[in-house]
Amino acid sequence: MENKRNAFTLQKKVMSGVYFHIPFCKQLCHYCAFHKSISLHAKNDMLECFKKELELKKNYLSEDHLSSIYFGGGTPSVYQPDKIQELINEVQKYWKIDSNAEITLEANPDDLSVKYLKQLSETSVNRLSVGIQSFHDEDLILMNRRHTGKQAYEAIKRAQYYGFDNISVDQIYGVPGLTMKKWKENLNLVYKLNIQHISSYHLMYDPNTVFAKKLEKGQLTEMDEEESYEQYKYLVDSARKNGFKHYEISNFCKENYISRHNSSYWQQKEYLGIGPSAHSYNFKEREWNIAHNHKYMKAIKEGKSFSEKEELNIYDRFNDLILTSLRTYWGLNLTSVKEQFGEKLYLHCLSKAEKYIQSNHIRKENSSLILSDKGVFVSNDIMSDFFYVEDE
Ligand SMILES: C[S@@+](CC[C@H](N)C(=O)[O-])C[C@H]1O[C@@H](n2cnc3c(N)ncnc32)[C@H](O)[C@@H]1O
Ligand code: SF4
Repeated sequence: MENKRNAFTLQKKVMSGVYFHIPFCKQLCHYCAFHKSISLHAKNDMLECFKKELELKKNYLSEDHLSSIYFGGGTPSVYQPDKIQELINEVQKYWKIDSNAEITLEANPDDLSVKYLKQLSETSVNRLSVGIQSFHDEDLILMNRRHTGKQAYEAIKRAQYYGFDNISVDQIYGVPGLTMKKWKENLNLVYKLNIQHISSYHLMYDPNTVFAKKLEKGQLTEMDEEESYEQYKYLVDSARKNGFKHYEISNFCKENYISRHNSSYWQQKEYLGIGPSAHSYNFKEREWNIAHNHKYMKAIKEGKSFSEKEELNIYDRFNDLILTSLRTYWGLNLTSVKEQFGEKLYLHCLSKAEKYIQSNHIRKENSSLILSDKGVFVSNDIMSDFFYVEDE
């Protein structure tokens, strides 16, 4: 275990990634608050803006090579594979892409036709992240998804047939009407698919979503905490039994299939985000583009970028470290807290940890604090407690 951690630490030093936010969807899912538009007419214009933004930000990263590219959204699979490859080629103008770089495309099952997958298999994309959410049609209807459970299952099988051997699926639990029986069926089907990675999220009622409005009006009832916990527990236990490592709150992988791109967020590596609402981080500052397609494109066409920046002081960087490291199975390394942030914040961590170690929410392993399964379920509360507020 410790050796693997060290191997990862070494790998950490050379990771930089580029993220594209593709801000289009063909239909709006009722739970989703990610930035997107269902009007696709600006699709081609947007592609040109991505290219221009890459050029504008070519000096943002300190590394001249990339270990990952991630097309997220929205729905990146609204673009045909040749357009995705065009963007990868454009990235290549400014950075060397490592020969073993992870290049992920988020895709909706209904886009993964034979033709699409065949063409995609001829591009540099080597990892797929497919939004399944549930295999039960009544859940998919409630969520306003565009596909059935059967279509989703078949899309994964098809992707495997066309050579994709690094596939992740997204699933949501804690959804009203998702009984334990249905949740177990969902997970068992995922295990049967023999895929490499699972992202499993507890439903969040994000403001301004149809689900949040329905909840407010009493048209939806939130799952009670005990039932949610039971679903989460089943997820964690069954994933382990099926050979998945639980390496981040919502993420599980087979050996050697950690999502390298997402790990760079959790391990505080630098990344450049392209597209409306995309975030960037380069150790010194965080930057985020405006979450508005038209304003984003107008600014880029004028040779500017429409983003906000925040310079990070020591406490911001410390709180970022809490937020990212406590999410993972590597945990918060106290030695690096001392080295990077000094004695005061090191002691702050020790004093905050005490009660959680006693209550078995956190365990101390060598010099790291790691959330237990029980701790992961209430991780937001624990992380906010660890944050350092300057005038504390
Ligand atoms: C930004 S979406 C992109 C994926 C792709 N467009 C799709 O729907 O298949 C990434 C994932 O976030 C998850 N997600 C989005 N909103 C959520 C919410 N409110 N609660 C829980 N999970 C959510 C879904 O599992 C979704 O597949
Ligand atoms: S879950 Fe995916 S397809 Fe649905 S609205 Fe969000 S980004 Fe679009």
